[in-house]
Amino acid sequence: MRPETIALHGGFDCDPTTKSVAVPIYQTVAYSFDSAEHGAALFNLEVDGYRYSRIANPTVDVLEERMMQLEGGRGALCVSSGQAALHFAVLAVTEAGRNVVSVPQLYGTTHTLLGHLLPKLGIGAKFADSDRPEAIAALIDENTRAVFCETVGNPAGNVCDIEALAEVAHRAAVPLIVDNTVPTPILVRPIDYGADVVVHSLTKFLGGHGTTMGGIIIDSGKFPWTRYAARYPMLTEPDESYHGLVYTDHYGPTAYIGRCRSVFQRALGAVLSPFSAFLLLQGIETVALRMERHVENARRVAEFLRADPRVTSVSYAGFPESPYYPLVQKYLKGKTCSLLTFAVRGGHDGGTRFYDALKLFKRLVNLGDAKSLACHPASSTHRQMSPEQQRLAGIGPETLRLSIGIEHIDDILADLDQALAAAVPG
Ligand SMILES: Cc1ncc(COP(=O)(O)O)c(C=O)c1O
Repeated sequence: MRPETIALHGGFDCDPTTKSVAVPIYQTVAYSFDSAEHGAALFNLEVDGYRYSRIANPTVDVLEERMMQLEGGRGALCVSSGQAALHFAVLAVTEAGRNVVSVPQLYGTTHTLLGHLLPKLGIGAKFADSDRPEAIAALIDENTRAVFCETVGNPAGNVCDIEALAEVAHRAAVPLIVDNTVPTPILVRPIDYGADVVVHSLTKFLGGHGTTMGGIIIDSGKFPWTRYAARYPMLTEPDESYHGLVYTDHYGPTAYIGRCRSVFQRALGAVLSPFSAFLLLQGIETVALRMERHVENARRVAEFLRADPRVTSVSYAGFPESPYYPLVQKYLKGKTCSLLTFAVRGGHDGGTRFYDALKLFKRLVNLGDAKSLACHPASSTHRQMSPEQQRLAGIGPETLRLSIGIEHIDDILADLDQALAAAVPG
């Protein structure tokens, strides 16, 4: 099935008991065992079935299956937020003494996770000075266990060369973990270009309505863990915490996501509620249609801002002169994401006046809502970063980030125009 169809039907036909066509919300904590023997078999992972909703739930299962199909993966695990997904995705292949090599253009809290929190557990992070594959390759050492990037960076809007980054990672025998939140699988499926693990904040375009937090990790099932067994003992050697289970023996190609569920979800419990999964599934049904409008409206906004003398700069990968333009053609089918940054005459103060004058755009920290949203990264999403880290992440004190919604374009442009008039009088 094509993505538009998977978004509506993937992972669910109808409920076998009631014939319900909508995905039922299985609002239950636990599932009854037929017998002690049955319960033991479930706990030994010898039979399929549900035990406890921290580990798996039928409503959440549909969301996992649908997203897995959309991304072309082999296994998936839903968690309570994008941040929880990133946390588990990295923890699953690293341990104290090892490190992750990352591009610098990241969502601020991801930078905090990799650069500040994980180092306190002994897991290092090395940030390259650009997203160029050679910059990443130069930082990989014998303790590197993953390469990380955002397919399209928030808020820089840079487009990573996934194929080249995957090649660099694989040459060093490590997986490429990709955050595909901004483009969604509607614009690009990183696994098709060699990514090994895909992570999403479902909170954004996929849910699409600014109502529900959620995250997911999708395993391509392609990374050859057993070939590099000595580097990944957590997957290839018996796990004491799970009565000696060897994940690569038990789960085969989906050992990675099996461990994410059996170890991290089980012990850390970043659970996605069935009701949230239901709401996210509702959002995903229309994501392909919404992305079309997001992309087209963003193109119109980028052109409007570029032509306006009150605007000093616009960063939008869809302009032919952008260094990322060829990558937009290669990876995003020529469709530039609806996240863009710009600056207004008058620097930081001009930007603040513009921001305060917005009427239709919501002033907040979110992206990917159906509504148009505006954010000032340096004082909010990226506040914890140093000025130099912010510069490498593609922002300055004056940068404004817009997430263009699906309203009528004339209303969007009218709001930007009146806010610019308020910011730059005369
Ligand atoms: C690219 C990206 N990844 C991950 C996250 C974190 O997602 P969540 O807010 O669902 O934890 C965000 C949040 O803005 C994001 O922009």
